[in-house]
Amino acid sequence: MAYTVSKLTDYSAEALEKAAAGCVRACADEAAAVRNDAELKAFRDRWLGRKSGVLTQINDLWLKGAPKDAKREAGILVNELKARIQELVDGAQVSGSGDDADEQRVDISLPGVRRPIGAEHPVIKTTNEMVRVFQKLGYSVADGPVVETDYYNFEALNFPPNHPARDTQDTLFIAGQQSKPQRERLLLRTHTSPVQIRTMETMRPPIRIVIPGTVHRNDPPDASHSPMFHQIEGLAVDTNITFGDLKGTLDHAMKEFFGSSVKTSFRPSFFPFTEPSAEMFVSCFICGGSGKRGNDPCRPCKQTGWIEILGCGMVDPNVFEFVKDNAYDPKRVSGFAFGMGADRIALLKYGVDDLQLFFNGDVRFLGQFA
Ligand code: PHE
Repeated sequence: MAYTVSKLTDYSAEALEKAAAGCVRACADEAAAVRNDAELKAFRDRWLGRKSGVLTQINDLWLKGAPKDAKREAGILVNELKARIQELVDGAQVSGSGDDADEQRVDISLPGVRRPIGAEHPVIKTTNEMVRVFQKLGYSVADGPVVETDYYNFEALNFPPNHPARDTQDTLFIAGQQSKPQRERLLLRTHTSPVQIRTMETMRPPIRIVIPGTVHRNDPPDASHSPMFHQIEGLAVDTNITFGDLKGTLDHAMKEFFGSSVKTSFRPSFFPFTEPSAEMFVSCFICGGSGKRGNDPCRPCKQTGWIEILGCGMVDPNVFEFVKDNAYDPKRVSGFAFGMGADRIALLKYGVDDLQLFFNGDVRFLGQFA
């Protein structure tokens, strides 16, 4: 028989408990018996219906009818009861009863549930393509922590403590590190170069590695900056590695990546961990190096016909000194390193004019790269 709310005459704690328990039991039984959506709705209305649902009746019959001195107790109990009933109603589900009548309601001609297929993010896609170019040259992939120590991010890369070159990196430091010795203090790595040291500590020469990863700098977000961005680093160490190897490797890699018609150009630069250092430009793959698109100026290369792609150089002997114990004797080995911004390359490659579009997670934008 369906549960009905009866008037309470006995307001002793015992009687109240009993009435409440009976009510909860009835509700749970009814919840378990729900077999289809129509019954679920009827069940819900019967218990929660505003006008004459069971809870409303309980309010009227148990609470309003309570003698003065029992009002408080009854109020607390009814509140608990309401919460419990609400839970039961919310938790009620159409049970697969195996009933033939129910099964026939499944319309197998309806289209199935379509799950949207995920795709690589354009920056990750660009990174993977670039990594692949180096893998084909025999490089393997290495990685390291994003929260790094001062030692790996700076000191072992030949940025001495307090050296002004550190200022170029706009570092985000982890708070509360002042009590530690400087080299142990934590920060968000500002470049992927610390992984050069970490890898040389564990792998003896010869090595050839590419290091994709996120880095952080204290740059406010705008169309071309982001406090988090992506780099792809490379390191090759062996005996007799020369600047010619660096140029040949990178020229080949750029032709693989951007197309065989691009040219490369190296201009002197400075990084504490490479000597000599250079910036490498590729001929603008948008205007073909002319600086013009029809009669209009080419914006990506600022009409110069060249686009800066990466920083590079020969590993500074001072860097090898930090990993000398693992067979990196600067008198015996030499190497080159390079680092590029994956986000910038993706912007250029896809002709996107605002870096923020890569990071604010709008699927309408990201879906275009699937
Ligand atoms: N780490 C440098 C940067 O973030 C790039 C670089 C890497 C330069 C390797 C030379 C060699 O600016």
